[in-house]
Amino acid sequence: MHEPRPVTSARLVVSLVLVWAGSWSPGVEAADPLPARRSSRLEKTTAERSETASRLRELYRGPPAGWPAATIDPGVEWRELGLLPLVEHPESNPPNEAKTALGRLLFHDPRLSASGQLACVSCHDPARGWADGRAVSQPGHGIPARNAPTIRNAVWQSALFWDGRAATLERQVEESLTNPTEMAADPDHVVALLSQCADYRKLFARAFAGRAIDFAGVVDALASFERTVVGGRSRFDDFLRGDASALADAELLGLDLFRRDARCLTCHHGPILSDGRFHDVGLSFYGRPNEDLGRYAVTTDPADIGRFRTPSLRDATQTQPLTHTGMFELPGLLAMYNAGMPVLRRHPHQEGDPLFPVKSPHLRPLGLNGQDLGDLAAFLAALAEPVPRSAVRSPDLPRSDAPAVVVER
Ligand code: HEC
Ligand code: HEC
Repeated sequence: MHEPRPVTSARLVVSLVLVWAGSWSPGVEAADPLPARRSSRLEKTTAERSETASRLRELYRGPPAGWPAATIDPGVEWRELGLLPLVEHPESNPPNEAKTALGRLLFHDPRLSASGQLACVSCHDPARGWADGRAVSQPGHGIPARNAPTIRNAVWQSALFWDGRAATLERQVEESLTNPTEMAADPDHVVALLSQCADYRKLFARAFAGRAIDFAGVVDALASFERTVVGGRSRFDDFLRGDASALADAELLGLDLFRRDARCLTCHHGPILSDGRFHDVGLSFYGRPNEDLGRYAVTTDPADIGRFRTPSLRDATQTQPLTHTGMFELPGLLAMYNAGMPVLRRHPHQEGDPLFPVKSPHLRPLGLNGQDLGDLAAFLAALAEPVPRSAVRSPDLPRSDAPAVVVER
């Protein structure tokens, strides 16, 4: 596996925020805590914090109907935060134990890739929140390099990938296997290699009622396995199940900010904290070297330029660096949200460009102070799932029964 790439330092991110927010002046020290300087919200004393937190605890420990009213922009359809629902499997790919076990093996098997070096797990590592900790996976190849998202809870995403180009997990798996920037697999080659393993032949027969190994089965088994990679054991889930002490004071204050003054719920709502829709949060780098037009590449609708699918936030603290760009750690990203996210400035030749991306109207400066941002980060951290040892242990992969090829040197 590759070493994680160094990530943008907090100091650099803060100075980028200042430039983007248009408030850069030579006299401003880049490491100044920006929010504290601009916020009119007073920091609370320890006593005030614990008093507010115990009031919030009483409100939030009951059913959502009694929670403080959420701050949602007019006209936005939304769902309250909550526990994850039951997983539904499509009729065309019913699950069984042999199939998900087979999918788990395939997920770890680098023989599925053209290079023989890359498995799904290389970029979706359970020890790293099912992502890879790198800024972007496999830069180059002429296709925009993007940050690897978690696969946990992907079963509840309405569309897969940052641009939503796959409608189902089956289509997503097919694409991840054959995409030249991911595994670049050749279906016939994969089937031939797997067919050389007695264990795979047995597992396939069990999973697919006696069927021989084929590529569609590989895809279905992987998708079935993905449907087993779900969360629901975070401290926020414990809190929702009625353990009022599962969240610390800062986390409760953060939950309330998230739903109200920080305005996050407008896009990050429902059990996975994603609306499944596409928004431009100002990171398209339109007309610049890192340009990624996002959803537009799928729909060719100019309104979609720079829009990306809202990610779940259930794994955000474990899958840093964040966003499709992989350019931000959490504190830097929160500082940017507080500043209203970057405003792309038009280059002179872009004046009058009808395709110039338009940042989401839901984003605006929030005026939060440093304490608020710390509380928001604490709430996001309380969404993290524990890492079970069994998930991190790699399975023993089936051995090939074909004679080893000896390369003469
Ligand atoms: C080289 C690294 C790499 C490998 C190998 C890889 N992925 Fe990914 N995966 C990514 C990146 C990067 C994205 C985002 C791509 C995009 O949005 O255009 C992604 C996206 C996904 C998503 C979408 C998640 C979401 O929230 O939309 C799923 C699910 C997924 N991969 C599963 C898999 C599976 C299953 C395999 C093996 C068949 C695999 N990946 C192999 C890097 C990788
Ligand atoms: C206009 C809708 C919208 C609002 C409002 C919004 N977000 Fe986002 N958020 C997005 C989208 C879309 C992305 C992905 C952007 C990208 O990669 O280009 C994102 C990405 C993120 C990520 C990175 C997740 C990851 O896995 O990479 C975090 C963390 C995050 N948002 C937290 C917040 C918080 C906290 C708030 C409130 C202060 C908030 N968001 C408000 C739409 C929104």
